[in-house]
Amino acid sequence: MTQPTDIRRVPGDRPRLLDLFCCAGGAGTGYQRAGFAVDGCDIAERPNYPFAYHRGDALAHLADLIATGEIGRYAFVHASPPCQDKCTLTVGTNRSQGWGGAHEDLVAPTRDLLERTGLPYVIEQPNGGGKPTIPELQTAMGITWTDVREELTEAIPPAYSEFSGRAYLTVANLLEVAA
Ligand SMILES: C[S@@+](CC[C@H](N)C(=O)[O-])C[C@H]1O[C@@H](n2cnc3c(N)ncnc32)[C@H](O)[C@@H]1O
Repeated sequence: MTQPTDIRRVPGDRPRLLDLFCCAGGAGTGYQRAGFAVDGCDIAERPNYPFAYHRGDALAHLADLIATGEIGRYAFVHASPPCQDKCTLTVGTNRSQGWGGAHEDLVAPTRDLLERTGLPYVIEQPNGGGKPTIPELQTAMGITWTDVREELTEAIPPAYSEFSGRAYLTVANLLEVAA
């Protein structure tokens, strides 16, 4: 996370969060519950994503938002670049989606662009795991809106991002009051 910034709010008063590599919105759902308005971006078609969504390359989308100044609409950025190199849960699931076969590490270029935004951000990368069933995944993570195995094995439990999002909003609101 970078330095604290002003909270940029959308009309209707929810701060807006950019959810890069959004998949079916496990992380996005937690941030929405924490109080953000959420916009996602994923390279794959994601009909189960529950919020506004841009289909395309996340790095190109972020570079475009920076170049046009539209990044200024956002208060916070979450990024979940592919983790197939390191996460046993997702090994083998990504190639079938038409991406990930080359095991390209997107973490470093994602971090470089996020630093250029000047916004606070989170990059998430899980480690390890097993091979649970679909109902086990749904129950463990509290994700009911998709039964697509690939989406469930990729997902961040909403409770995690809700915790992170609330922590950020608490600190940012305290700084706003103190200013
Ligand atoms: C680890 S998952 C994200 C999980 C998500 N945060 C959640 O909680 O449900 C990684 C996602 O990155 C997407 N992806 C892979 N390469 C991408 C790229 N270059 N640009 C945008 N999305 C990409 C995949 O389609 C996949 O949905």
